[in-house]
Amino acid sequence: MPNAVSLFSGCGGSDAGLLAAGFNVLMANDILPYAQDVYVANHPETEYVLGDIRKIEHFPDAELLVGCYPCQGFSQGGVRDPSRKINTLYLEFARALKQIKPKAFIVENVSGMVRANFRHLLEDQFKVFSEVGYNVKAGVLNAADYGVPQERKRIFIVGLRNDLGLEYEFPLPTHGKGRSEPTATIGAALEGMPEWPEGEFYDLDFHWYYLSRNRWRGWCEPSKTIVANPRHMPLHPMSPRLVKIEHNVWRFASEGRARRFSYREAARLQGFKRDMVFPDSSSGSLNNRYTVVGNAVPPPLFEAVARALPEIWD
Ligand SMILES: C[S@@+](CC[C@H](N)C(=O)[O-])C[C@H]1O[C@@H](n2cnc3c(N)ncnc32)[C@H](O)[C@@H]1O
Repeated sequence: MPNAVSLFSGCGGSDAGLLAAGFNVLMANDILPYAQDVYVANHPETEYVLGDIRKIEHFPDAELLVGCYPCQGFSQGGVRDPSRKINTLYLEFARALKQIKPKAFIVENVSGMVRANFRHLLEDQFKVFSEVGYNVKAGVLNAADYGVPQERKRIFIVGLRNDLGLEYEFPLPTHGKGRSEPTATIGAALEGMPEWPEGEFYDLDFHWYYLSRNRWRGWCEPSKTIVANPRHMPLHPMSPRLVKIEHNVWRFASEGRARRFSYREAARLQGFKRDMVFPDSSSGSLNNRYTVVGNAVPPPLFEAVARALPEIWD
């Protein structure tokens, strides 16, 4: 099994994909205690270093380095300020890349990074990774095209070490109309789950901002994007549909119980395994459960990107 080092690992979405693709994850790191708790409960074999990446001096040797540095600066939900310090954590990834010099690396981030005002940051990532000695390629992939029951577009940056003389090709979509597999649906993902899992979903009001767009999808469709902030979590299909009243104003079409997806449902819609464990540790508030799930990379999507790496491990 080729060895991987994972940075900004969260609760292990990307790493679950790596394991499924046949990698051994030697070390993972994140600053968020509940991310560590969930990760370790599900993958006890990986050494998880809790803390600020800026404090880690030495990284173990590995053939693959992966990292999904934070995206608040680029995302729809975050403050879109290209000058925010959090946007330069890719330099920490580059520091690890320089030290480890793996055969390949994979980075995932929100697709907002391709927007004009963030373009210079994306270009700088290309420049920095190329200077370390990698042939770098980027592509925007939709998780729904790879068997995840969710519309989620994310940018992947993949690099192969120059001495290998190879070029990475992104995996072709496998799910959806005209492809070998049908689109995965909310109905299939949530099969067997309780209709009203009291205490496991965010139950505050649907405020005006929530109702400024359509948050509803039906059982036979993939979900809207699962986000880290529970206030903006999409509606469960048992809720009445939303209808448009005017620009930025939506209302429930009928009376009836309505609720957002629970954090466990959100995990299923991210493509995590059915037996995923959420430990009841002191940092396991409802908010933190939603945060680690919403921040995660859908494991099947990361698996597809990792499997598309050329056979360079011998
Ligand atoms: C997009 S999420 C990563 C998701 C993860 N790859 C997964 O699939 O579950 C970014 C992560 O970076 C972590 N992070 C932010 N600043 C950090 C820092 N200075 N050092 C280490 N981790 C940090 C956040 O806590 C968050 O979990």
